[in-house]
Amino acid sequence: MEKTFHITTFGCQMNEHDSEILAGLLDEMGYRAVPDREEAQVVILNTCSVRENADKRFFGTLGQLKRRKTADPDFVVCVCGCMMQQQHIIDTLKTKYPWVDLVFGTHNIHRFPALLENVIRQKDREIEIWQDGGEIVEGMPARRLHRCKALVNIMYGCNNFCTYCIVPYTRGRERSRRPEDIVKEIRELTADGVREVMLLGQNVNSYRGEPEDGGVCSFADLILRIAEIDGLERIRFMTSHPKDLSDELIRVFADCDKLCKNIHLPVQSGSSEIMKRMNRHYDREQYLEIIRKLREAVPEITISTDIIVGFPGETEEQFEETLSLVEEVRYDSAFTFLYSPRVGTPAAELPEQIPEEVKHRRFNRLVELVDSISAEKNSAYKGRVERVLAEGTSKRNPGALSGRTDGFKLVNFKGENDLIGQFVDVEITEGKTFSLEGRIVQ
Ligand code: 5AD
Ligand code: SF4
Repeated sequence: MEKTFHITTFGCQMNEHDSEILAGLLDEMGYRAVPDREEAQVVILNTCSVRENADKRFFGTLGQLKRRKTADPDFVVCVCGCMMQQQHIIDTLKTKYPWVDLVFGTHNIHRFPALLENVIRQKDREIEIWQDGGEIVEGMPARRLHRCKALVNIMYGCNNFCTYCIVPYTRGRERSRRPEDIVKEIRELTADGVREVMLLGQNVNSYRGEPEDGGVCSFADLILRIAEIDGLERIRFMTSHPKDLSDELIRVFADCDKLCKNIHLPVQSGSSEIMKRMNRHYDREQYLEIIRKLREAVPEITISTDIIVGFPGETEEQFEETLSLVEEVRYDSAFTFLYSPRVGTPAAELPEQIPEEVKHRRFNRLVELVDSISAEKNSAYKGRVERVLAEGTSKRNPGALSGRTDGFKLVNFKGENDLIGQFVDVEITEGKTFSLEGRIVQ
């Protein structure tokens, strides 16, 4: 039997990185990745539960695999990720999808090779879910999507319990990796050609590392430690919570050249009352004050956000406050979401759920505003020369390369493939809503 695999990843960068680890583990087991799911002997669906449409897409994709599973008993179907940490999903899998071979969760990825071997050897299904993360497992392999940049987990879990969010239930409580382990991993990555790292955590600002020699390492301390690594040129992070954004971190933004001048700072709503009911621990004025301080310290900083429309009880006036906040901040970009009730979260139980058509109407207005500001901001880049890390070939534009500026703007430009992995100076010739076009300058 040919040992081939295919992984489909839903959701955020945490999941993407978990999939890189699964791919690394499969490499070690002698499996080969294939681009087409139909060709793979082992298929993994790594799921997301943050919104309902991710659930639906998962079950849709899973359903498509049934016919092949029935025809080919050696075909192995594995499902993992956030959805598996919810009991009602496990119950559905057991009753409606008994042909799925392997089910595991977010806390026991390192168990995957042993579980897969059991499934193949015993020709029997395995369901193994851990309720919470134990000790952090270090030293797992990862097969990176890009040669020149890497995702690096610095912490796991979330303690914030925003009332709409399922993540604290699926990813468990916050646990920070030791700073030494993080630095060691990034040193190895840079030795392997990585120039840029994205530090990952649900709320990286509350990183609290315990160094071997005692004391506490804050997130700002960690960035400074990482910045000392020779060969590493760029540091980014995702995601930060406004309530924990320290003045110390703002200073590091200003002082540390390697820290990219870009922040993703989810606001979720423009109304202080809704922020309170979301359990966000800041209000509109406090959020705007952080934005002011960031821009004062680093005038060129680019800022993006997440916004939810139609949180239970959101009035038209409160939604207008979201629009006015967006106009005030003028985000470089924003991810906008329709509120989606998640089983087990407090907001799903609230009585005043907003009708779908109202949510959609508000959502469309918000997207229109967000996009027009993005387009305006991007068009102001025309004529500027930006340093871009060429990451790969452009998806949309065959024959072109794409990469990111320091401020995380996506740029497409003509160039030879041997530039991939290098920094190039690109003159911006056009600013579009979601990307920039440019040409290399010598
Ligand atoms: N409904 C809609 N959007 C949500 N998000 C998280 N939970 C929900 C939900 N139940 C959004 C938040 C978060 C982003 C990752 O997903 O904006 O920042
Ligand atoms: Fe969810 Fe809030 Fe934690 Fe982000 S900070 S993962 S929105 S609970």
